[in-house]
Amino acid sequence: MVKEKVLQALEQHRGELVSGGTLARELSVSRTAVWKAITTLRNEGFPIESVAGGGYCLSEDSDALSAAGITLHLTTDTIGRSLTVFSEIDSTNSYLKLYAAELPHGHTVVADSQTGGRGRRGRSFLSPSGTGVYLSILLHPTLPLEQINRITIGAAIAACHAIEETADFTPSLKWVNDVLKHGKKLCGILTEASVEAETGSLSYAIVGIGINVRTPDGGYPEELNSIIGNLEDFSDHSVQRNVLVAHFLNHFERCYHLLESNDTGTLVADYRSYMHFLNQEIRIIHDGFVESAIARDITGEGYLIVEQNGVRRTLNSGEISIRLEEQSDFPKE
Ligand code: BTN
Repeated sequence: MVKEKVLQALEQHRGELVSGGTLARELSVSRTAVWKAITTLRNEGFPIESVAGGGYCLSEDSDALSAAGITLHLTTDTIGRSLTVFSEIDSTNSYLKLYAAELPHGHTVVADSQTGGRGRRGRSFLSPSGTGVYLSILLHPTLPLEQINRITIGAAIAACHAIEETADFTPSLKWVNDVLKHGKKLCGILTEASVEAETGSLSYAIVGIGINVRTPDGGYPEELNSIIGNLEDFSDHSVQRNVLVAHFLNHFERCYHLLESNDTGTLVADYRSYMHFLNQEIRIIHDGFVESAIARDITGEGYLIVEQNGVRRTLNSGEISIRLEEQSDFPKE
């Protein structure tokens, strides 16, 4: 489509003036087709300036999400190479569930906003426009169901690296899938899967992540103010969402290769480096009961090892959640 090609060319020359004639020649289309594409893109919200004589320029500080803008920064082989970007959708995870049988491994859906964003344990995930990224990746894994935790672990690691690279600060991980800074939640990850009844193996898995980049106009609902954090709250510059998505996908593919090749040592070491609460006291919440323990490590399967009265045990995230004790970098949730 001409529109996508024009946007791709403008993204490549972001902040620079590109003449209509050059665009037409490079894309082998008429100048009228270029002009029509520019009009459509502007109507979709892309900040494209024009000057007399027919030059166009995608504003340097544009933060409009687009497949062209994401692809420009992708270094993956498969993850995100098949890509759909929506301005609004109910839930990127739900969309992939519907089309899982038809779409290829690595297909990624990114949305500017979600009307029915879903979180863990049946909770909703607030997903307003222009303020975050909401994306899901479809996987046709060759992993047994017991290893699904590792996909979440891979996504959490990828999120930490992508945040370091685009927002220039180091977040921390609260097992299993919360990415935090100063106790504020920056990301939520929801991994869902379908299992083949006959073999018990995974037929597909969907890993969805929502990353809060900036506060929406009018702020968050009161009850979320003390819980949610945004990348730009902790960064000294603005974050470009296309770049953030691409970096996340690049790192996720690297982690996915590690877990496919069973290199859990590297994966766990990477995850552990962001677990700033290790060897500190945590509270374990299970079926409404709360107990204290010392967090010691995670296993290759992504389970948490805790110690109570000198005895070590392993926790599975499906049954248990944890709270961090109040201290320096980790206020309570
Ligand atoms: C949580 O912290 O409870 C997990 C939140 C996961 C939210 C993401 S946003 C993209 C994807 N689509 C959804 O509906 N949920 C996930």
